[in-house]
Amino acid sequence: MFGTIRKKSVILEASSPDHTSIADLHGRSFPRGWSKSEFANLSLQNNVTLLVARSVGNPDGPVLGFNIVRQAEDEAEILSIAVDPKARGRGLGESLMREAILRLRADRIEKLILEVDGSNESAIKLYNKLGFQTVGNRPGYYRNEGRVDAAEPSTALVMRLDLV
Ligand SMILES: CC(C)(COP(=O)(O)OP(=O)(O)OC[C@H]1O[C@@H](n2cnc3c(N)ncnc32)[C@H](O)[C@@H]1OP(=O)(O)O)[C@@H](O)C(=O)NCCC(=O)NCCS
Repeated sequence: MFGTIRKKSVILEASSPDHTSIADLHGRSFPRGWSKSEFANLSLQNNVTLLVARSVGNPDGPVLGFNIVRQAEDEAEILSIAVDPKARGRGLGESLMREAILRLRADRIEKLILEVDGSNESAIKLYNKLGFQTVGNRPGYYRNEGRVDAAEPSTALVMRLDLV
C-alpha cells in the first residue's frame, strides 16, 4: 500500500472495498447521498481520482475521509469531500486537499474549481486557507442539497485555486 503520510493520517487512492464506507460517509455528510455504485463508476473514469484518509496508527482501519477530483483538460474540479464527523478538526480535510493539489500540480493542471454552500463556514475557511478565491456565486442553487442541516435555499459559491 503506497500513500502519503500527512500529520497523523495517511492519504492514498481508494480501492473497491472502500466504496461502501465512502458512500456511507457521503450519506452522513450530505442530504443527497451518492451510492456505492456511483463511487465505483466514477472511479472507473481515468480522469477521476478518489483519495481516502486513514489513521497512520491504523492504516487498514476505517476510512476517515475522502476527496474525489475530476480532471478535464487543464482544469480540475472537486466533486465532493467529507471527513467523518468524529474525525473532523484534526487536519484530515486539509491533508486530503493538499494531497489532491500536489497530484494535480504534478499533472500540470492549471486551476482547481469547486462549489460550496455559502453558509458552510468550515469548508470555506479550509478553502480560503489553501488560497482559493471566490470567483462567482449561484443564488438559490442549494435547496437542501449542499448540507445536511440546510433548511433554507442558499447560495453556492464558486471558488478557484490557480495552480501555476
Ligand atoms: C469541510 C470538512 C471537509 C473539513 O474537514 P476537517 O478535517 O474537519 O478540516 P481540518 O481539520 O483539516 O481543518 C482545516 C482548516 O479548515 C478550517 N476549518 C475546519 N473546520 C472548521 C470549523 N469547524 N470552524 C472553522 N474553521 C474550520 C480551518 O481553517 C482549518 O484550519 P486550522 O485548523 O488551521 O484553523 C469537514 O468539515 C466536512 O466533512 N464537512 C461536511 C462535508 C462538507 O461540507 N464538505 C465540503 C463540501 S464543499
